[in-house]
Amino acid sequence: MSKNTLILGLQWGDEGKGKIVDALAENSEAVCRFQGGHNAGHTLKVDGEQKVLHLVPSGILHPSVHCVLGNGLVLSLPALQKEITELEESGINFTGRFYVSDDCALILPTHIAIDKVRDKSEGIGTTGRGIGPAYEDKVARRAIRFGDLQDLDKLQNRLEKLVDYHNKILVHLYDAEPIPFQDVMDELRNHQSLFQKFHSGTQDLLRSWVKENKKIIFEGAQGSMLDIDHGTYPYVTSSSTTAGGLSTGLGVGPKYLDTILGITKAYTTRVGEGPFATELFDANADQLAKVGHEFGATTGRPRRCGWLDLKALETIVFINSVTTLCITKLDVLDGFTEIQVCVDYDDEQNPIYKTLPGWKQETSGIRHFNDLPQAAQDYIIFIEGVLDCPVGIVSVGPSRDQTIYRA
Ligand code: IMP
Repeated sequence: MSKNTLILGLQWGDEGKGKIVDALAENSEAVCRFQGGHNAGHTLKVDGEQKVLHLVPSGILHPSVHCVLGNGLVLSLPALQKEITELEESGINFTGRFYVSDDCALILPTHIAIDKVRDKSEGIGTTGRGIGPAYEDKVARRAIRFGDLQDLDKLQNRLEKLVDYHNKILVHLYDAEPIPFQDVMDELRNHQSLFQKFHSGTQDLLRSWVKENKKIIFEGAQGSMLDIDHGTYPYVTSSSTTAGGLSTGLGVGPKYLDTILGITKAYTTRVGEGPFATELFDANADQLAKVGHEFGATTGRPRRCGWLDLKALETIVFINSVTTLCITKLDVLDGFTEIQVCVDYDDEQNPIYKTLPGWKQETSGIRHFNDLPQAAQDYIIFIEGVLDCPVGIVSVGPSRDQTIYRA
């Protein structure tokens, strides 16, 4: 693996980034996140134990790896505290190797309340974590940021105004209960120790690491089709999930990247509402959902399932400048006699499929590309041909070792 690697999901999230980051982190010095918040959910299987991470980069599971939450994230203090406590209880040490940007915009309890009531009428199907409203305040230049925790007395006035504004929205627009200012202030006060322990000027830190030639993984959350600009708007998340998000969300320019690893499942899933051209509603959908355990890691909602959409991926590969592809969950297709792949859309934007033969053979124990059944190899080769991008990694199961690295 080359030096600095950006890892991105190319679909609607849940591509299995967590597992790949975890596998590659072993040979890295740092894993850094640049957008999103605790709407993300990375499910990993380590030593037979399942772990779901929402905020903390999966690199934390490797004791020598440093982890960063960049300025582009929106941060829920209770969610971060909960995750740190749980990980510390299972023996993971954060001291001296976990850094949170002073510039992260905070998610307040009022943001969560607004997200939940608003989604009832807008029907985006958000994760209800306050992500959209927190980013709105950031862009409107009224956000409370992690660095503001340094002096809560100084913050009082600004916070009062903001909570008052949020409560007007809750009460007057949505007929919902207001949240007492004191509750919001208490949440900040109760978590001030997070600031003391982990706050950092992460832009300078990253610059020094890059200059020292440290090997860094940049970990995207969600997927490109949920990008605020390039995704299926308005059914998107509120951050830049594509490659550009790295520059804004961590302060690292594009020339410091050696590999842009784009991750796609061997098929497609989506949680929440919004268009999904290759969605299936038949027995094939049930099979993908069942074999692939397709339930959201954050909300537990069943994921919608369908065939791989190469037409959409062509655009996404370009937007992200993907240099290497990683195909995950190939083993989920093991039981299919035939596999369809969308190669174009017709005039009504319905998918045009190419049918490829299945392999009807278990792949989860295979570790070398050449040992895969011929039809599975052909499936991968077909994908790289259409996307004009090499497939470097194939994942055939949830465990770290169920990974095929192609020379
Ligand atoms: P939000 O990010 O909570 O505002 O939700 C906006 C949309 O993004 C919804 O369709 C969510 O289901 C989706 N979403 C957000 N985070 C994830 C994720 O980590 N995986 C999959 N979908 C996500």
